[in-house]
Amino acid sequence: FKVPSPINEPVLNYGPGSPEKIALKKAIAEARSKVIEVPMYIGSELIHTDNKIKLSPPHDHQHILGYASEGDASHVHKAIDAALAARENWANLSWEHRASIFLKAADLLAGPYRAKINAATMLGQSKNAYQAEIDSACEFIDFLRFNAHFMQQIYAGQPESVRGLWNRVEYRPLEGFVFALTPFNFTAIAGNLPACVAMMGNVTVWKPAYPQIYSANVIMEVLREAGLPDGVINLIYVDGPVAGDIIFKHPDFAGIHFTGSTKVFQTIWQTIGENISKFKTYPRIVGETGGKDFVVAHESADVKALTTGLVRGAFEYQGQKCSAASRAYIPSNIWPAVKEQLIADLKEIKIGGTEDFSNFVNAVIDERAFDKIAGYIDNAKKSDKITVIAGGNYDKSKGYFIEPTVLLTSDPNYTTMCEEIFGPVLTIYVYEPQDFEKTLELVDATSPYALTGAVFSQDRYAIDLAMKKLVNSAGNFYINDKPTGAVVGQQPFGGARASGTNDKAGSILNLYRWVQPRTIKETF
Ligand code: NAD
Ligand code: ALA
Repeated sequence: FKVPSPINEPVLNYGPGSPEKIALKKAIAEARSKVIEVPMYIGSELIHTDNKIKLSPPHDHQHILGYASEGDASHVHKAIDAALAARENWANLSWEHRASIFLKAADLLAGPYRAKINAATMLGQSKNAYQAEIDSACEFIDFLRFNAHFMQQIYAGQPESVRGLWNRVEYRPLEGFVFALTPFNFTAIAGNLPACVAMMGNVTVWKPAYPQIYSANVIMEVLREAGLPDGVINLIYVDGPVAGDIIFKHPDFAGIHFTGSTKVFQTIWQTIGENISKFKTYPRIVGETGGKDFVVAHESADVKALTTGLVRGAFEYQGQKCSAASRAYIPSNIWPAVKEQLIADLKEIKIGGTEDFSNFVNAVIDERAFDKIAGYIDNAKKSDKITVIAGGNYDKSKGYFIEPTVLLTSDPNYTTMCEEIFGPVLTIYVYEPQDFEKTLELVDATSPYALTGAVFSQDRYAIDLAMKKLVNSAGNFYINDKPTGAVVGQQPFGGARASGTNDKAGSILNLYRWVQPRTIKETF
């Protein structure tokens, strides 16, 4: 019963006149031409309410793509009940049947739904075509296919037995339901969090961040078309704390699969802790959270590779990646060359709506994010410890546009070197080349987060030193590459310290968190 061996879904290039570009343009035009009603999906019901959430492109906030129905506490209860009602049949369905559903979903995404899901991510979350393709098509497809493969490996992993005795381990689903709480910035993450939990035989309540609702709706369409039974994944649009207040006290709450900010995760963990005696089982707590990701250059670094890594690492998807490079440490002897190249590269960047495929930078997700990021830039402009060396302008009249901004600071503890901004802002600190080791120690000392980081160097001893000094500072460590863009099945993804429980999305480790093993010893 081997599932097809997974290979990473090839990234299409959307070149001029390509069939994928024609299909995507058509899907975008179609989506823009109508106003859709987005329901919640609970059990077998598609639920519409009178409370409407307006869905608009962040780069064109007056345009209306649709309205989603917002739920309240009663819908949270209903979703939990629907999940628990579906549990027995789903948990007892063989893993091959479960795998088939998600493998079919992957094929639908790779084929007939590819343009639709990419268009939804481009319009709803303001990702450019290439960023949408690697997220909502390739990464999501890879999650589904690789997880089916990992699931099979888990069930096959059995202990040794000797004559007269047979040892075995059953990997059962968790006893209860799992809450999938997902962020706005990756369609693949939003889909994978409930899907991988369900693949392991669990039932879930899924609450996405509101700016991702438009693409969440397409994910649900695909899963239903692939044959996902009613009640296995219940998709609700309810205010986070309202949902949390019910779920984190429910006796059948068996786990949370979270991706989002550190602050929200810590609040959730605290609430779960306070209610610990109410649950039938210790809930699994899996969370991937924020980052303050670094790039350290050694004086031997290749300047072009470094600046490409900085521009792509810091500014792809407007810096709204947990993995985005947001602080860089550059030695003074290569700084003039790095600065010149960086400014030249940034001049090439086009900013605008996602419908024009030549725009590299689009809008940030919403007004709240825009105001927060603009606030950091304004403070930097007023500080005597900072120079704005590129960008620094913003405009929210049509969409939430912020120029890729590079700041130079003399203070390695300045706020923009320490706090997660989650926008297109990169802060640079220039150090003396002989202080490379001290700088590595500084990077580690100023890393309460430990998500991603990169070192650029042509010198093996410098690379070795960076790996040793920064051993606990990044769950994903890159050598001569940008710190973003982990690929499922190649670079298992997740961070330590305040960046999460490091359960490595896109690997077998993550799937082990969603099973309840029972060990059986039988003697003859
Ligand atoms: P967020 O923490 O604001 O929201 C995440 C989810 O939690 C949303 O669905 C939100 O509605 C919900 N929520 C918010 N407050 C809640 C509460 N009090 N109780 C219950 N639910 C609540 O995150 P976001 O802005 O959507 O995403 C950006 C954040 O996600 C960044 O910090 C980023 O670093 C992080 N992120 C991390 C990874 C990773 O793999 N480490 C990946 C993507 C994003
Ligand atoms: N997996 C995403 C990245 O590596 C978050 O950038």
